[in-house]
Amino acid sequence: MTRIAASAAPPGPVLVMGAGAIGCYLGGCLQAAGAEVTFVGRPRVLADLRARGLRLTDLDGHERTLAAEAICAVEAIPPRARPALVLLTVKSAATADAAQTLGEALPPGTLVVSMQNGASNAQVAQQTASSLHVLPGMVPFNVAELSPGHFHRGTSGALAAQDDPRLRPWLPCFEAAGLHLELHADLRGIQWAKLLINLNNPVNALSGLPLRRQLLDRDFRRCIAALQREGLAALAAAGIAPARLTPLPPASLPTVLELPTPLFRLVAGRTLRIDAKARSSMADDLARGRPTEIDALCGEVVRLGRRHDLPMPVNEKMIELMQQAPLHPRPWRGAELRRALGIG
Ligand SMILES: NC(=O)c1ccc[n+]([C@@H]2O[C@H](COP(=O)([O-])OP(=O)(O)OC[C@H]3O[C@@H](n4cnc5c(N)ncnc54)[C@H](OP(=O)(O)O)[C@@H]3O)[C@@H](O)[C@H]2O)c1
Repeated sequence: MTRIAASAAPPGPVLVMGAGAIGCYLGGCLQAAGAEVTFVGRPRVLADLRARGLRLTDLDGHERTLAAEAICAVEAIPPRARPALVLLTVKSAATADAAQTLGEALPPGTLVVSMQNGASNAQVAQQTASSLHVLPGMVPFNVAELSPGHFHRGTSGALAAQDDPRLRPWLPCFEAAGLHLELHADLRGIQWAKLLINLNNPVNALSGLPLRRQLLDRDFRRCIAALQREGLAALAAAGIAPARLTPLPPASLPTVLELPTPLFRLVAGRTLRIDAKARSSMADDLARGRPTEIDALCGEVVRLGRRHDLPMPVNEKMIELMQQAPLHPRPWRGAELRRALGIG
């Protein structure tokens, strides 16, 4: 992990590719700290930014606002854009398209950090836009759009990205923006650790509940535990050690999740410090009928398991349930989901 103390002045302009929850939050924090930020996104979000500006809040009670006139919100990358840093913040299914657009519009060598979930987005972006310099990143916290232009960080944690000499000068700027960024020689273990935690996303989406309430239901926790156990087995077979992102080591998470709720509350402790209203973004996608990232989560686990001849029936079943969910939208109860996933 690399930490560097230097000027907090931004090394250059920033371009956010995919102005949604994460893009608006990260880009907004950087702009509030003095960076020149261009937000590239869809008409609905851009119209909100142009009309209302940005309001950024978090669970620690901080609030930052950016006036509408101060925001550069565009549908296409400006012809002469020369960003020193691009934050790629589209959902996984949109990565290849977004990368293609970046590759066509930006000079060779432009630095791009994928601030996306899943374990393959940076690779997909790099393969699609081979002229760019793409690094994997990881966002540990949850951001939700509470109202048009209002983005709220509901949980905590440090951003991570792969170490690179060109990213190091950005560290003080991120710090000044309230975004602690840690650089790592190899991000694979961190991405997979986040992916294991994100295996809760489809459970949360199907539950229809806020994260905190869903996590206090033991049946739902047993579903997450079973998804994670398969993920851990696939990782062990592949020789990938998931990093420790929570107070508990990744290998112990399924056991803790399976504890009776009063014990779970005790052991989970500050992990349960989640806004009462926070939901996974997959829950929002499902509710809005948008494609979900199920393939970048359970699909990634299934593919890794298959490469090592390991059956992954719970993750496979979860993919099936998520694919069917838009056809029969309804909240699932914990015991019902556990049985549907074949967990005794
Ligand atoms: N939200 C969270 O709490 C959270 C936390 C950690 C990590 N993440 C990860 O961060 C990534 C982004 O998630 P998010 O929740 O911020 O997604 P989001 O709110 O859906 O934002 C992405 C935005 O980018 C737009 N977009 C897609 N392709 C584009 C293109 N080619 N040009 C311009 N805009 C484009 C999307 O529009 P369309 O809807 O039309 O595609 C959407 O408005 C995901 O990988 C997610 O898993 C999210």
